[in-house]
Amino acid sequence: MSLPLCFYPLAKMGCVSCLFLCISAILSIVSATQFNVTVGKNDMLTFDPAILTDVQTGDVITFTFVSNNHSVTQSTFRRPCHPRIRGANSGFMPVDPKSAQFPEFTIHIDNTSGPLWFFCAQNGHCQAGMVFAINPTENTSFEDFLASAQMSANTTRTAATPAQTAPSSGAVPKLSIKGATTLLAVFAIITGFAS
Ligand SMILES: *[C@@H]1O[C@H](CO)[C@@H](O)[C@H](O)[C@H]1NC(C)=O
Ligand SMILES: *[C@@H]1O[C@H](CO)[C@@H](O)[C@H](O)[C@H]1NC(C)=O
Ligand SMILES: *[C@@H]1O[C@H](CO)[C@@H](O)[C@H](O)[C@H]1NC(C)=O
Ligand SMILES: *[C@@H]1O[C@H](CO)[C@@H](O)[C@H](O)[C@H]1NC(C)=O
Ligand SMILES: *[C@@H]1O[C@H](CO)[C@@H](O)[C@H](O)[C@H]1NC(C)=O
Repeated sequence: MSLPLCFYPLAKMGCVSCLFLCISAILSIVSATQFNVTVGKNDMLTFDPAILTDVQTGDVITFTFVSNNHSVTQSTFRRPCHPRIRGANSGFMPVDPKSAQFPEFTIHIDNTSGPLWFFCAQNGHCQAGMVFAINPTENTSFEDFLASAQMSANTTRTAATPAQTAPSSGAVPKLSIKGATTLLAVFAIITGFAS
């Protein structure tokens, strides 16, 4: 387990509110629920499951890419097939059919005050309904998001770029290579609200 970034300035500054922020960040890591999502199961254009509910701050979502060449790219409710600025993005994760190892991408949920929206940025996949939602609501429902994705013009071509790390307090974005073919990337979602 890596210590949150807040630990290091804390050691120098000795600030009390930093201490509480740091402790809550550590506690949220310790009590995190890990959710698992399979991307491209049975060669389908799907996230399985396509919806996660009751995701809390501190939880972790691990995407395992098992076929094809998909991405998990954050968007907004209004523009399902368009990457959100500074949103989470795995980049394309091609799977070698001959390999038994599958690439993974992990998202740390730092702020669940709103629902979070995602799609696969591969050509046409979003329009084919390859979308994913965390904590959808009654008024911003997964069904509406999906319908809106299927209506989108196919303008999002090669939108996925390698994961951009957006540091925030309480999370340590990192990129590491495990073994020859397994890519493990960690991304911190700072806010899920502006959708
Ligand atoms: C996700 O996978 C991990 C590791 O295999 C497991 O410990 C955890 O219980 C799984 N989470 C769920 C919600 O099934
Ligand atoms: C994966 O898809 C992207 C975007 O279409 C493409 O640029 C890339 O070459 C593909 N990778 C492989 C290994 O097919
Ligand atoms: C978008 O692309 C997909 C796959 O190429 C195709 O099935 C779908 O009809 C296209 N949708 C529109 C609105 O052009
Ligand atoms: C959903 O929208 C309706 C009508 O605009 C509003 O009255 C209601 O409070 C909203 N519900 C939530 C959970 O935001
Ligand atoms: C979570 O997001 C909301 C809306 O953007 C913001 O008001 C709030 O301060 C954020 N909370 C944290 C802990 O970042």
